[in-house]
Amino acid sequence: MRAFSLLSAGHRPVFACLLLGLVASCTNGDDGQTLNCPQGMRTVWLDRLNNVGECEVVTPLSDGRSPRSGLEQAFPAMNRPMGALTTPERIELGRLLFFDPVLSGDNTVACASCHHPAFGFTDNRAVSTGIRGQKGGRSAPTIWNAAWNNEQFWDGRAKTLEDQAKGPIANPIEMDQDPKLLLTELRAIPEYTRRFDEAFRGANGSAVTLDNIASAIAAFERSVATVNSPFDRYAAGDRSALSDSAVRGLNLFRSVSTRCFECHEIPTFAMKEYKVLGVPALGDPTKLDDDRGRAAISPGASVERAFRVPTLRNVAKTAPYMHNGSLKTLGDVLDFYSQGGGAGRGYPLSNVDDKIRKFDMTPDEKADLISFMEALTDESLRPEIPAKVPSGLPVPQGPL
Ligand code: HEC
Ligand code: HEC
Repeated sequence: MRAFSLLSAGHRPVFACLLLGLVASCTNGDDGQTLNCPQGMRTVWLDRLNNVGECEVVTPLSDGRSPRSGLEQAFPAMNRPMGALTTPERIELGRLLFFDPVLSGDNTVACASCHHPAFGFTDNRAVSTGIRGQKGGRSAPTIWNAAWNNEQFWDGRAKTLEDQAKGPIANPIEMDQDPKLLLTELRAIPEYTRRFDEAFRGANGSAVTLDNIASAIAAFERSVATVNSPFDRYAAGDRSALSDSAVRGLNLFRSVSTRCFECHEIPTFAMKEYKVLGVPALGDPTKLDDDRGRAAISPGASVERAFRVPTLRNVAKTAPYMHNGSLKTLGDVLDFYSQGGGAGRGYPLSNVDDKIRKFDMTPDEKADLISFMEALTDESLRPEIPAKVPSGLPVPQGPL
């Protein structure tokens, strides 16, 4: 992992500088010159002549030191398309767009309406409510660490954050916006015209494009990182970072009885695969949910009702749980697993993952597992909610 991250850190600047044709003026940011990166990020490279460079989240072990315990593991590289640059200008533009309801057809819905930082970057609802009060079929996942997802959405139907961001804007039950009209609207707002041109080297609003909207939002999302939880401090050798109960929970989480860690892997507590648990229908625990999940995107009997293994970082902030929000609390989730998932509940499905098996769980063990999941909470890099956005529209203070 380390060799790879050194390689990519070394390659990216050279590549980006070659693109700009100015190899000589590039530095790796180690010579004391740095960009004005958001908190928790550092300069990875800087082209002084062109005054352009990139910021990157500082993750555990990214300074090259050796792990202090077997629990401390380096984060993988973020998934990003060629040409995606996390410059301070793009991150800031993306932050403003993320909170600006101008992105929606009737100027009432922002990305933050369903992914609000005060609600763990979700809406704390079972399924989301979009434009004109319309309900969708799935629960809004958190934006925290979405940049490390291999693919986006519960069923992985978008490859990158860039592809993902265009979806909700045009979606009739989310933001219902005609992309052409949106560009006209944004070009009429001088602050946006200026910020797009600065961030994407345009002139007179030429940089206001749908691709650049998606790029800026994705750059912002790549700054929304949670990597400093009590668990991370414990893994880095601070034995006082976890309570005794959370340590017992960690051991249960990593046990062959629960097998949690085999899908929710350290350090992301996610996995790029799609797995079948057999989650109940929302509002009717006697029934299996009928969402086909991954199978609707990539046909195959083994992925009928399979969903991406989500991150458990900040999971204590993002109730209710599962792709349809059918499980209200972490305790409900643990009961579901200890009963053996959907198969254990007797739902009609035969492809539940073989790691999902009944296990005994005392009330104390349940409390310990919950303490451990709570110790995956870290909102220290929570971005600031803009006091105002360039459109002048009201910034959403929570779910619709
Ligand atoms: C009406 C509520 C709503 C709005 C508005 C909304 N989203 Fe979402 N978002 C969702 C739901 C629901 C999903 C999951 C859908 C699915 O998996 O099929 C989702 C998924 C995502 C994901 C994938 C995360 C993951 O872990 O797979 C990202 C990233 C995201 N949204 C970002 C955005 C951005 C950026 C905007 C604004 C351009 C936005 N969302 C607007 C509800 C919303
Ligand atoms: C076979 C792989 C697998 C195993 C083992 C597993 N999980 Fe999961 N987990 C998933 C998948 C897949 C989902 C999403 C399922 C869905 O939404 O339908 C999920 C969802 C969750 C959620 C809800 C997250 C959210 O944002 O809604 C929690 C909490 C959770 N798991 C905790 C655990 C714990 C604790 C264990 C051990 C008792 C465990 N998981 C074992 C695959 C697994």
